[in-house]
Amino acid sequence: MKVIETKAGLKSWVNKRKAEGLTLGFVPTMGFLHEGHLSLIRQAKTENGAVIVSVFVNPAQFGPGEDFDRYPRDLPKDIRLAESAGADAFFAPSPKEMYPSEIGAVIRAGRQAERLCGKSRPGHFDGVLKVVTKLFHLTGADRAYFGQKDAQQLAIIEKFVQDYDFPVTIRRGATVREEDGLAKSSRNIYLSDRERMEAPALYEALKLGREAVLEGRDPVPAVRRHIENNTSGTIDYVEFLSYPELQEKPEGTAVLAVAVQFGKARLIDNLLLHLKENPHASNDAEF
Ligand code: PAJ
Repeated sequence: MKVIETKAGLKSWVNKRKAEGLTLGFVPTMGFLHEGHLSLIRQAKTENGAVIVSVFVNPAQFGPGEDFDRYPRDLPKDIRLAESAGADAFFAPSPKEMYPSEIGAVIRAGRQAERLCGKSRPGHFDGVLKVVTKLFHLTGADRAYFGQKDAQQLAIIEKFVQDYDFPVTIRRGATVREEDGLAKSSRNIYLSDRERMEAPALYEALKLGREAVLEGRDPVPAVRRHIENNTSGTIDYVEFLSYPELQEKPEGTAVLAVAVQFGKARLIDNLLLHLKENPHASNDAEF
């Protein structure tokens, strides 16, 4: 696996692979890799001739007072893990390399960013689209891989790529969980021992919500109650919206999504439900 820190270095690596006729899969990450990231890398490896993984903690998507400075970082370990999952190139640029000068025009996420994390974290998805645009151009990827764990991010990027005719296909990866159901996240290391014991309640709550939907009830109260009764965290949101539009009164496919603020960690999780079919038939392993 080739470790690359500059845009010029990446360009030359990409040009060589394309000259060899290989298709390129791309997995963008902010590092501190875990099994969720690695499953995307493995999926990319089965569908492409070569795979690029990027690790870049993108300052543009963190708001003031958020965890940019203390976001967990371990590049040597990330290099080992990415290589073991089958990556061929590992792109880890500095902020100066990615953003050498002030940007002259802005990309602003639209309606899909009005709810959920977009509401709680103003500007977050603008920053995601900014970095993802650059990374798509720099990697020239044929396919890019995103996890359903970040359902709103995935929905926004799919629509962005479609609206602006980016020559890349977005591929979805199922949420990877710990054995007790907690969705894997780089931020889980912020949890205290007690919070770590409580955290599986998010997924339990989502599954109770799915039961409520099956019985024709609004899932939001059941989800809220379970989280309030079983964790010390503060609910940021519990929402039941159409997917991928992220609007009220879902009919076809819906997302049931939660965000809970623990002491140092803000955790998110979600389930996709297909309302016309038996909601039991759908779970996050479906993609
Ligand atoms: P990061 O949080 O590092 O996540 C990178 C990718 O891994 C995202 O597509 C995310 O959805 C996926 N992922 C995270 N946890 C997962 C899990 N438990 N199961 C499956 N997939 C999971 O998302 C970002 O970084 C950034 O916003 C980025 C897209 C890289 C732009 O900076």
